[in-house]
Amino acid sequence: MGMPPRLDPAALAAPIVLAPMAGGPSTPALAAAVSDAGGLGTLAAGYRTPEDLAEDLARTRERTRRPIGVNLFAPPAPPVAPERFAAHAAAVAEEASELGTAAGDPRHDDDGWTAKLDLLERDPVAVVSVTFGLPSAEVVARLHATGSAVWVTVTSVAEAGAAAAVGADALIAQGAEAGGHQGGFVDEPGREPLGILPLLQLVRAAVDLPLIAAGGIVTGAGIAAVLAADAVAAQIGTAFLDCPEAGTWVGHRALLGGDRPTAFTRAFSGRRARGLETRFAREHEGTATVAYPQIHHLTSPLRAAARAAGDPERVNLWAGQGHPLVAPRPAAALVTALTAEADAALQAAIGRRAATAVSDPR
Ligand SMILES: Cc1cc2nc3c(=O)[nH]c(=O)nc-3n(C[C@H](O)[C@H](O)[C@H](O)COP(=O)(O)O)c2cc1C
Repeated sequence: MGMPPRLDPAALAAPIVLAPMAGGPSTPALAAAVSDAGGLGTLAAGYRTPEDLAEDLARTRERTRRPIGVNLFAPPAPPVAPERFAAHAAAVAEEASELGTAAGDPRHDDDGWTAKLDLLERDPVAVVSVTFGLPSAEVVARLHATGSAVWVTVTSVAEAGAAAAVGADALIAQGAEAGGHQGGFVDEPGREPLGILPLLQLVRAAVDLPLIAAGGIVTGAGIAAVLAADAVAAQIGTAFLDCPEAGTWVGHRALLGGDRPTAFTRAFSGRRARGLETRFAREHEGTATVAYPQIHHLTSPLRAAARAAGDPERVNLWAGQGHPLVAPRPAAALVTALTAEADAALQAAIGRRAATAVSDPR
């Protein structure tokens, strides 16, 4: 008996993949609502224990029978000597003491990579997406053996080629506009991340796999733009942050849809991420180095204390460049509206082209 075909992102009724959003926003209710509405709901495994993830999977399956995805963090680069970020650690300790807490232990870990893979082998899902690194061909084959499709997050043509070579079924092309961490294989301070349209065009010229576009997409017109650039779906995060089903911190919700700009920062985690500008990131960017997840753990108690104190200026408020258009809305309604608006935007663009062809005097 053959295995059913792996999930094809081009076959989704709604061309929308819910971005995994580690650190609170991802919930079983949000993932289930998006899958039920015809998109693909995804659970973030990042920062969850394997036991938490098993629980999240069970709770999601209680809510939907539709396919779902799980996102894993690939193991990070080797640890950095703590002396390299000693000045940052001192700054974090001082900020933390103002809130009556201390800096966290800047430990290095792999986010339970092996245990989470084992769990997904025992309890498979339709799609396993990987961020922060390239899974080995052996890992991809193990996941394929369970029937899962494997999608890899890429931010460059080189990463796209490497992901194709290990057997990825689709690529999540993440542009610089995206909220949250840049999910490429390495964080290179000297390399300016590509915007989503250049990235899609360059990757398409080099690799034949289905592309899922991520970064700054908050409207149907944004989805239409990436579909026109040959993506089969959009992976959307920020637009879902203010859904009632999301686990987003209330102080984060309060600033979405406003005019606060976003910026890249390494100050919270030691890896380049886009969020709403904060005083903490502004003042301490200079001492932050590439040291993930060590700096993530270093700032963890500070961020928790700031949330408890209602102080958004010391919290990582991840958001993409499109956030000013975000409004609270149930996830299913958002998926339905975005899909209809994307279809209308594609029709309108074709209509404008047709009108041009008729009126061109040449
Ligand atoms: C709050 C937040 C958390 C995120 N966490 C993850 C994650 O755990 N794994 C991942 O692959 N991407 C994560 N991302 C990035 C998304 O996958 C996606 O690239 C991004 O949301 C797309 O840009 P947009 O936010 O403008 O829609 C996160 C994004 C946000 C906003």
